[in-house]
Amino acid sequence: MGKQARISGTGFAVPPRILTNAEISQRVDTTDEWIRTRTGIEERRIASEDMHNSDLAAEASRKALCAAGIAAEEIDMIVVATTTSDMPFPSMACILQQALGARRAAVFDVVAACSGFVYALSVARQYVASGECRHVLVTASEVLSRVTDWSDRSTCILFGDGAGAVVLSASDEGASDILAFHLGGDGRLGDLLKIPAGGSSKPASHETVNAREHTIRMNGAEVFKAAVQKMNFCMRMVLRRAGLEASDLDLVIPHQANLRIIDSLRKYLDLPREKVYVNLQKYGNTSAASIAIALAECVASKRLARGNLLGMCAFGGGLTWGACVLRY
Ligand code: UT7
Repeated sequence: MGKQARISGTGFAVPPRILTNAEISQRVDTTDEWIRTRTGIEERRIASEDMHNSDLAAEASRKALCAAGIAAEEIDMIVVATTTSDMPFPSMACILQQALGARRAAVFDVVAACSGFVYALSVARQYVASGECRHVLVTASEVLSRVTDWSDRSTCILFGDGAGAVVLSASDEGASDILAFHLGGDGRLGDLLKIPAGGSSKPASHETVNAREHTIRMNGAEVFKAAVQKMNFCMRMVLRRAGLEASDLDLVIPHQANLRIIDSLRKYLDLPREKVYVNLQKYGNTSAASIAIALAECVASKRLARGNLLGMCAFGGGLTWGACVLRY
């Protein structure tokens, strides 16, 4: 497919404020023990009131640009994956462009909930591989704390804020390349996980605010079942497309939603624990940002080295799912 697409830089940013399970258990009827055993989450990061999603996005993006050794003016395109944009429009990508000074870039957002980073990376890959763009910035950033119902114990324990970014660059040499994607969705299951109001069908009103319809609604048990099934399915599909076995992978970064979902994927792929990256104990579920943050952490800690084969797979509202295999 034309040019090779190389991850030339990564970065991430999380707010300093840590919210522990113990603190949540003072607000709703839950315990640290329940949250740890049912989800694996121990704490999450929460943005301060004056912090915008685009602030986190810009911090992660600057780090990725610095690591790639390129200036903001060299970016040809910015693709942002988010479900918690600063405002309905302009898009987060436009706001990020302004913050970075990336004057030459085409700018747009991709909305695919927790699968957003994998979807956005697939878009970036097309532009790089076709030769249309030399450097595409893919930034996944969320402030889920602003759309969390803090009185609902079945959801408020899960989510956190953060951002991750990668620069995807065209390359003619070396082994680094994106090898395959598998993306999918099933709109019939959209009601399982959504924010009911605030869009054009149900604009904000006193009624929607009183009914807490601007916050996340989830049928956790059904989402859980679908997540296990679809994560396994899309990893199998992407490996087949890449002509690889799971045992060929040096590292797998799954979407960080629930440790039990990750464990079922690990068992399904028959991978040892050390090959499957987990950071949800620190950050909870940061939706689109979760894989991007994990990827940047793996690069920073040298858990991922040049030449390694990496698998990533995500699952989320929509429903949507997506997997990617690349040689880092
Ligand atoms: O990013 C992708 C989107 N999200 C996900 O992937 C989330 C997928 N789902 C999950 O992770 C799990 O379904 C949850 C962690 C949300 C819930 O765990 P579960 O084991 O599926 O629990 P459940 O919803 O079946 O509820 C079991 C019990 C219920 O009590 P009863 O009806 O059996 O008396 C709940 O009311 O646990 C109760 N419960 C809680 N108890 C203490 C639900 N949340 C809590 C809580 N603390 N925080």
